[in-house]
Amino acid sequence: MAEDLLGQVLAQIGGDNPRLREVITSLTTHLHGFVAEVKPTEEEWLAGLNFLVETGRWCTPRRNEFILLSDMLGLTTAVDDVNHVGPEGMTPSSVEGPFHSPAPPRELGAWISHGPERQRATSAVVHGRVLDTDGTPIPGAVLDLWQANDTGLYDSQDDSQDDGNLRALLTTGADGAYWFRSIVPSSYPVPTDGTGGKLLTAIGRHPMRPAHLHVRITADGYRPLTTHVFLAGDPYLDSDAAFAVKDELVVEPVRRETEADLRRWQMDTPFEELEFDFHLAPADWKDGAAQ
Ligand code: BEZ
Ligand code: FE
Repeated sequence: MAEDLLGQVLAQIGGDNPRLREVITSLTTHLHGFVAEVKPTEEEWLAGLNFLVETGRWCTPRRNEFILLSDMLGLTTAVDDVNHVGPEGMTPSSVEGPFHSPAPPRELGAWISHGPERQRATSAVVHGRVLDTDGTPIPGAVLDLWQANDTGLYDSQDDSQDDGNLRALLTTGADGAYWFRSIVPSSYPVPTDGTGGKLLTAIGRHPMRPAHLHVRITADGYRPLTTHVFLAGDPYLDSDAAFAVKDELVVEPVRRETEADLRRWQMDTPFEELEFDFHLAPADWKDGAAQ
């Protein structure tokens, strides 16, 4: 009877949802393969199940420890990759992460940093254009931006920051251009107090993410894009705890300090200029061509 155990389990999978049958069949097959390969002891298997129970206990309406585990194992990026194939020249997507929340609309050029981090950190002018994959500007595109402060915390994690700090909704002008003033992003650790952190420690991994900005761009007629912008030179680019870095998303910061630079970008102190263009795919692009 125990012969062909997997076959017996798979034979019981039914129901009227073919996609669910496909998913459960594949998952069951891979898990049986895992057991056959690893041969866990009963104590190890129970420890694994208890780890999942503990992970559930870390979840709250504002925190999903399973998403963090998925990020840390590269699974969120793998799911992102299979779902966001696009035309040549499209800016690659990258994971959303757990810290998106509603942002206030702001004028182009606005300062998005309103806390003490603005005095502590180096200032940044971030600018560029939203374009299609042929380089035609997209006016009226909305950029939903979010960024951690210089201590690595988002407003939603940190009671000392006002809601909406380091967040903005910006709308591109007729030339597809956007710009805003902020602080230079810093590298920071993912939350390590839960089971995600426990796993990283146990397998000898660091929790750091390279410095980045998050952005989600929407525009009529184009596919929404959620992605990151990373800073060249960051020591964690090659070992991002969330495996979200793609070469096309890395920008070289340029130090600006002349009178002309300060005047041009309405700055009082030297700053880093980050210039990044985003290229969106048409909404109807599917498997190789616009429909
Ligand atoms: C973030 O950058 O916000 C993030 C992404 C994945 C896991 C943890 C944090
Ligand atoms: Fe982040």
